[in-house]
Parts: sequence; structure tokens; C-alpha cells
Amino acid sequence: MTMTPIHNTFGIEARAKQYFEYCSEDELIAFLPSLRGVPYLHIGGGSNLLFTRDFDGIILHCGIKGIEVMDDCIRVGAGVVWDDFVGWAVEHGWCGVENLSLIPGEVGASAVQNIGAYGSEAKDVIVAVECVDLHDGTRRVFTNAECQYAYRQSIFKGELRGRYAVTYVRYRLSRTFVPRLDYGNIRSSLPTDAVVTPQLVRDTIIGIRRAKLPDPDVQGNAGSFFMNPVVSRDKFAEIQRDYPNMPFYEVENGVKIPAGWMIEQCGWKGKSLGRAGVHDRQALVLVNLGGATGADIVRLSDAVRQSVAERFGIDIRPEVNFI
Ligand code: EPU
Repeated sequence: MTMTPIHNTFGIEARAKQYFEYCSEDELIAFLPSLRGVPYLHIGGGSNLLFTRDFDGIILHCGIKGIEVMDDCIRVGAGVVWDDFVGWAVEHGWCGVENLSLIPGEVGASAVQNIGAYGSEAKDVIVAVECVDLHDGTRRVFTNAECQYAYRQSIFKGELRGRYAVTYVRYRLSRTFVPRLDYGNIRSSLPTDAVVTPQLVRDTIIGIRRAKLPDPDVQGNAGSFFMNPVVSRDKFAEIQRDYPNMPFYEVENGVKIPAGWMIEQCGWKGKSLGRAGVHDRQALVLVNLGGATGADIVRLSDAVRQSVAERFGIDIRPEVNFI
């Protein structure tokens, strides 16, 4: 059987036995018998995956499109490109997702991954997530609470990993604009004296992201490679004694320390191991310098993790899924 190349933004060569894209729930349900006894993997835009081998099974991809304004929510097909939805919302006067501009990936993945940036997270605007059970073809709607959202976490990545395909996501957006400008350098990046609109916030965030993050079409990458660790207040105080200028964010269960800052402190920013590199403008991003394999990236990831563990006593965990 010929193997099909799998699209992934890291630009790693990997193949699967079969690729199946469905454009409706019925089409997915009709296909489910083909999954019996075969390994399968449901992907989104391939922007959060690291292939370390070929995949000896079926890759599923949702091609359900469409954005519908309902009485109490906006219902979006899981296959819509996330930033197309954000662009649509800003254009049509719906507020709440402008800070999430230009995040790569698709709407389905936004609900699995609980994407977040610049002080906003997908969970803040998700009302419910419509799914198909890949085991028995039944449909199920998860409320926001049932999704068990936390920082870059959901039930779909945890206990129910691989069980459900997200087909539609329902968002609650607002007609009232409440600008969120306090994260990082958003406020200082706005033009002086400008009237702050959702479009201006979107354009500003797109500018910040383009300046800092590598474009996957130019240099393969999967955005932030690691999650930012949350440590206890005691552990934080211990590190802060040695690094009084360390950036941090107070969160409910402790203090979040930017992994990118720790990686930079370890001297990794802009450095490489073979064909895998640490981005020179944002150390949280690992890049494919050209022709890297999954194993090259894993080797660099392990080396970076080890340095951070030795210097700070913190194990930083990859956000990217290793396949
Ligand atoms: N920092 C450094 N050196 C670096 C990178 C960061 O010192 O090389 C410092 C910065 O100066 C800043 C702090 O670390 O004080 C935080 O940096 P930044 O605002 O760039 O954000 P981040 O914590 O590194 C997270 C998300 C990003 C998101 C940004 C902005 C995670 C894993 N990543 O990164 O998400 O865009 O905040 O909100 O939480 C993604 O998931 O792919 C992604 C890009």
C-alpha cells in the first residue's frame, strides 16, 4: 500500500497508511467501521504535532466548515481555520477572540488544546463542544464544565484522549468590546492616541506574533514547544532569590514561570543541535533548521529539558504531542 505524507507545520517527513477527511458528521459515522482494529489519529492543522516515525494507521481530519450565528451562540465547524474565525468575528463586530489572533490550527483543536495567548484562552468563550464518539458513532455535546478546561488542558487531551472527534464548537462572543491590553507588550505596541478597537488589537497582536514567532512556511515549528510550568510559591521564592528579575505570573495554584525565559538563561536561545534549533527571538519555540527528523527535535528537547532541570530544578513538559 502507498503511504500518504502527513502535513505538519514542523516540516518533518512522516507518512500514514491512509488519510481520511470528512466533511459532515454522517460521513465520519459511516467511516467508523474502517477504524476497527486499526490505529488511528485525529489531527487538526498539524501545528502541534511532532512525528518521530511513520504512522502505521489512519489519519483522520475534520473538513467541516461553516460559521452560523445561532440565538445563543456562534456555531463553527471544527475544520474552519482558527484565524479565519477570528478574522470573521472581528469583521462582524463580535468580540472576545481578538487576542487569540493568528494562532495556527483549526477550530476543533482550539477546543481540545484550550489555546491561549495574550491573556485570553479559548475556554473563556467556549459554551459547548459537539463531538462524535469514535467507538460507537453516537453524538455528544460537552458543556464547557464537562470539558474540564485548564491551562492547555481539556478532557479531550486527558481521560478521553482519542475517543471523540470534535465536529462543531459553540462560542459565546459579545457585542460589547472589553479590551484586554495588560498582557506583555500589547499596550505599549498600540499606536499612541489611537482609538482601541477589536481590529486594532487584532492587528497589533498579529504584528507582535509575526515579529517574534517563526513562520512555519519559512522555518518548520510548532509554536511553543514547552508549556510554562506552575511551581509552588515556596519554590518560586527560592528561585527568585537568585534571579530577582525573573518574569512570572501569579496563578490560582502557584506561580507560572515562563519556560522561554529559563531556556534563555540556560544559554540555549539561538543555539542548535544538528538540524534542530532553539529560535533566536523566542526560546520557547524549537525549529527545524532544514531536513530535521523527529528524533533530531526530540534530542534537542531532551537536552534543553535537562539544562533547565539542572539549573532551576524544574521539569518543563512539552506542549507538542509526540507521535
Ligand atoms: N522570555 C524570555 N526569553 C525568551 C522568551 C520569553 O526572557 O526567549 C520572557 C519574556 O520576556 C516574557 C516572558 O518570558 O517576560 C513571557 O514571554 P511571552 O510573552 O513571549 O510568552 P510565553 O510565555 O513564552 C505564552 C504562550 C504563547 C503565547 C504567548 C503570549 C505557552 C506555552 N505559550 O508564551 O503561545 O503566544 O504566551 O500570550 O503558554 C503557542 O502556544 O504556540 C504560543 C505561541
